[in-house]
Amino acid sequence: MPLQATRRIVRTLRGPRSQSIVPYDMFDAHQTAKELRSARKLEGVYHKGQAKVWDGKDLLAELVEKHGGVDLPPQQVEAIKRLFAVIFWGELAAWKVSAELALEIEPLEAKMAATSQAHDEARHFYVMHDYLSLLGYQPEQLPPAANRILNEILQADCLAKKLVGMQLMVEPIALTLFQLVREANIEPVLCELLTYYERDEARHIALGVNYLPQLIKRMSVAQLVDFHIWQVRMFLIELDGVREMEQDFRALGIDPRKAIRIGQTKQLHAGRLVTTQLGVSLPIEDLVTRVIEARMALDWPSEDAGTGRRDRLRRALAALLHKTPGARKVQRNLDELMRSGQAPGVSAA
Ligand SMILES: [Fe+2]
Ligand SMILES: [Fe+2]
Repeated sequence: MPLQATRRIVRTLRGPRSQSIVPYDMFDAHQTAKELRSARKLEGVYHKGQAKVWDGKDLLAELVEKHGGVDLPPQQVEAIKRLFAVIFWGELAAWKVSAELALEIEPLEAKMAATSQAHDEARHFYVMHDYLSLLGYQPEQLPPAANRILNEILQADCLAKKLVGMQLMVEPIALTLFQLVREANIEPVLCELLTYYERDEARHIALGVNYLPQLIKRMSVAQLVDFHIWQVRMFLIELDGVREMEQDFRALGIDPRKAIRIGQTKQLHAGRLVTTQLGVSLPIEDLVTRVIEARMALDWPSEDAGTGRRDRLRRALAALLHKTPGARKVQRNLDELMRSGQAPGVSAA
């Protein structure tokens, strides 16, 4: 009895035996030349983030002074508030996802890139809040589709979905909106501010492009199918989002069809960069292209198409079964982007 009591005391003093959670093997992760190249790019994301960091408080104050304040017609104020409310809450979601990635992912360079992104997103969130406050924006719940996109990503059941959803789908959408607003020269403070956001967001996409292949490689066939179905569902919710913001796009002189095409190209281009890293072709691009064509035939028919319900349904079905001229054009644009080596909005700048 005294011996057992002594052992119990020793066990209590020693504490429970546990496996180490310090990842001592984190430097053993890269095995192929391709993985090593990706690791160097991810490391670059962190260092470029540090070299190009900007002070959000100072910058916004400078821009407001330079342009003599923020001045917009009331109708455009409301459109900017509604469209950029999505960006505002999206920045918070990106902050949460990147902080989770920084915590969860093990290879050093990807962890550094995610940590750098979390720092950027914190700045994007508070600066967007400060800018929208100048327009009289009061934080409120987003419309259903935009709310759903962010919740789907935040509640996704694996890191790969969070990474593809945030870094390769939502971030390219944000870049699309930034590009369209800048091209339309809508408001000088915002337009100049967005150039700083764009530079940062391009690095965040690079995190997705260079790390996602490592997660996809570990998926079973069933997981890969589930992953692709989830992406197609996200594309459809994104299009619901365009539908609910359509009037705001038009108030700013932006054609929703053009917004869809640019967003689609940026997202699919990021997808091609991922499949290039993987060295295999996945059917997701063709699937998504057909689904988008069908949805456009239903909700945004081209001018030469009939507007009747039956005609739109017929064209939507045809778009699912056959490649439309629109789908072929998107794929030609993607081929050209890959050939030219240009990656607008998806470089590790
Ligand atoms: Fe951001
Ligand atoms: Fe971002």
